Amino acid sequence: MKILVFTEKPFAPAAVKAIENVVNASGNDIEVVEGGTKEDLLKAVVGANALIVRSDKVDANVMDAGAPTLKVIVRAGAGYDNIDLEAATERGICVMNTPGQNSNAVAELVFGMMVMMVRNQYNGKSGSELKDKSLGIYAFGQVGRNVARIAKGFDMKIEALDVFVPDDVIKAEGVTPLHDVNELFSQNDFVSLHIPATPQTKGSIGYDLVTKMPKGGVLVNTARKEVIDEDGLIKALEERPDLRYVSDIKPDKAEEFEKKFADRVFFTPKKMGAQTAEANFNAGVAAAEQSVAYLKDGWNKFQVNK
Ligand code: 3PG
Repeated sequence: MKILVFTEKPFAPAAVKAIENVVNASGNDIEVVEGGTKEDLLKAVVGANALIVRSDKVDANVMDAGAPTLKVIVRAGAGYDNIDLEAATERGICVMNTPGQNSNAVAELVFGMMVMMVRNQYNGKSGSELKDKSLGIYAFGQVGRNVARIAKGFDMKIEALDVFVPDDVIKAEGVTPLHDVNELFSQNDFVSLHIPATPQTKGSIGYDLVTKMPKGGVLVNTARKEVIDEDGLIKALEERPDLRYVSDIKPDKAEEFEKKFADRVFFTPKKMGAQTAEANFNAGVAAAEQSVAYLKDGWNKFQVNK
């Protein structure tokens, strides 16, 4: 059977080699397409039995192009908002992610970004330190937990809010659990977002929350741009010249942010959180193993469209 790896943003070469080894050892065939367009995906998916992607958009058209052979789609990574789950379910296609495999990479980037912002993007002016500052972690999943682990090394005070995680799980990590998002923003010098983009969370971080942050607050977004209400955030930054915003992906209104707020904002040109050799290797190999296992006997532990 054929496993197609299609990623617009390429994996590290060592990760591709490892993915190929997993698939070859299983007796399946592999095709790797990197840097391709949607049109390339529509062509490449014809005849594939499994499809491995990253943030690449997989909609009903892609699934129909892969019909009737395509049976499983594995998102090598955590967030699966790029895959039309309903369309997959309707077509009997299993969708899985690879939870936890790239979370350390994202968590490390959070600290890189926080240090960069409090050191004024390394412009030579006197900045500040993370030690003894407070950090609010919004969602305590795999990335949030890694952020908490690293924050302890910086001697930060840590709070977290996650309606799906019991307090004792959060406390066990030495983190104070919160139950009110307003408190998360009003009590923390830094707020780091780790919520997925869902109909409930989209546009949920805006003026009201951000203006609750203490003086000098920094909002860090390594989650998804869609969770931000960009107009609300722009208004907040206009009213509060002390606030800063750093994001691992350009907002839709990046130009306006950059023009108005200069060195109070920073955006990566492409999502970089999971773009390390280690994360590529871990997520890529897990995706290959999961695809092989599904094609072999329907293994679906990480199915997200049940
Ligand atoms: C994820 O959801 O796993 C991260 O956002 C990484 O996405 P990427 O594979 O497109 O870098």
